[in-house]
Amino acid sequence: MAAFPAFPFIGSDDDPFIPVRDYDLKHLDEANGRIRLPFGGWAWLITKHEDVRQLLRHPGFSSDQYRPGFPVLNPIPPTREGASGLFIFMDGDAHSRFRRMLTAEFMIKNIRRIEPLIEETVNEALGRMREIGPPADLMNEFALPVPSMTICHLLGVPYSDHDFFQHHSRAIMDRNSGPAEVGAAMEALNGLLGDLITHKRTNPGEDLLSRLVAERVIPGELKEEELLSMAMLLLVAGHETTANMIGMSALALLEHPEHLAALREDPGVAPNLVEELLRYCTVVRTGLPRLAMEDAVIGDREVKAGESVVAMLSMANRDGSVFHDPEFFDPRRNEAHRHMAFGFGLHQCIGQPLARAELRIALVQLAKQFPDLRSETTLADVTKRHEAVTFGLGELPVTW
Ligand code: HEM
Repeated sequence: MAAFPAFPFIGSDDDPFIPVRDYDLKHLDEANGRIRLPFGGWAWLITKHEDVRQLLRHPGFSSDQYRPGFPVLNPIPPTREGASGLFIFMDGDAHSRFRRMLTAEFMIKNIRRIEPLIEETVNEALGRMREIGPPADLMNEFALPVPSMTICHLLGVPYSDHDFFQHHSRAIMDRNSGPAEVGAAMEALNGLLGDLITHKRTNPGEDLLSRLVAERVIPGELKEEELLSMAMLLLVAGHETTANMIGMSALALLEHPEHLAALREDPGVAPNLVEELLRYCTVVRTGLPRLAMEDAVIGDREVKAGESVVAMLSMANRDGSVFHDPEFFDPRRNEAHRHMAFGFGLHQCIGQPLARAELRIALVQLAKQFPDLRSETTLADVTKRHEAVTFGLGELPVTW
């Protein structure tokens, strides 16, 4: 097993848009598609577009990190205590019970209603960046505040708590954190959200948490502790991934000024541009781990019950049989929407309409309001967060 390449792969240090180095690809080939897992054991790495689709819609694979033998990629607390509503790690009816409670909230038509608020948030962040700079750190002034403010508004969490929850969600999303650190960060977030939920029982607002308290918790359908960890999942998943996507997207556009100019001239190109950015950047770089509950055939691999697999989204999104010239960033490509940056199947990202709206509005306004925007760094020098569960940039110094 020592010969299997160590996973998760660290992308290229020279170029943040290269998710897997040639060195790792070569070793993966030699190991016949098997990888060495960070906490012991091995897994099949599923990399082809069609195979990833097949795997992620197969009912015989579990997402439950607490099952013995599960290919855990990131540190998790030792028990499910305080995590009873983290439905991203659940299977079957338990998973769909929680997911169903949120489906309508994240539907496109409901997200359209909050677009004016996203636009206001974007304008506010850009206004502050203008006051501070040039130069300015686009990650800190723009990429992080936009999704944080948006998810706070949606959930009904005061934005004044953003330093607190950003700090703790970073700890949860850092692969170098130990289980105790992750547990402590989850407890801290549970404390913040617990106080809020208690307050909303008697002082409901026009927000998602207030609705879930009134419609599900008070009638007894949902336990308060379940709502707590559901809210934590939305808070953490809702800002870190999108922030990393905004930062990587801005860098991609600064590297391709012709596409930034095209967006400025015609915001109508934004939807396809966003799909291509999601494909090209694929920030969930560690891939999606699953445990086989039965024997299955995925592509040309025979996976036995009890074996582990990882769906490698970043490689599937560069599969040449689906994406023409896949290493090339091409916002005009017709097949961009076939990417799987949001996963696929039962656990496919519930927040994708929100993430798409945030990305589109953020990039259109950035192009429009900062026509002279330039990067102050190079692809080799920009700080890369290889240790994070969702890949992104540490800082993005810009000028104008
Ligand atoms: C560009 C931004 C985003 C990316 C790239 C992304 C990516 C993903 C991926 C790959 C999954 C699948 C996980 C799996 O199958 O194990 C997922 C699930 C999920 N995402 Fe996102 N996400 C983004 C934004 C958001 C936002 C804005 C929210 C919430 C407001 C959100 C909430 C969730 C939730 C709750 C799940 C679990 C769904 C389930 O298990 O049924 N995500 N996301």
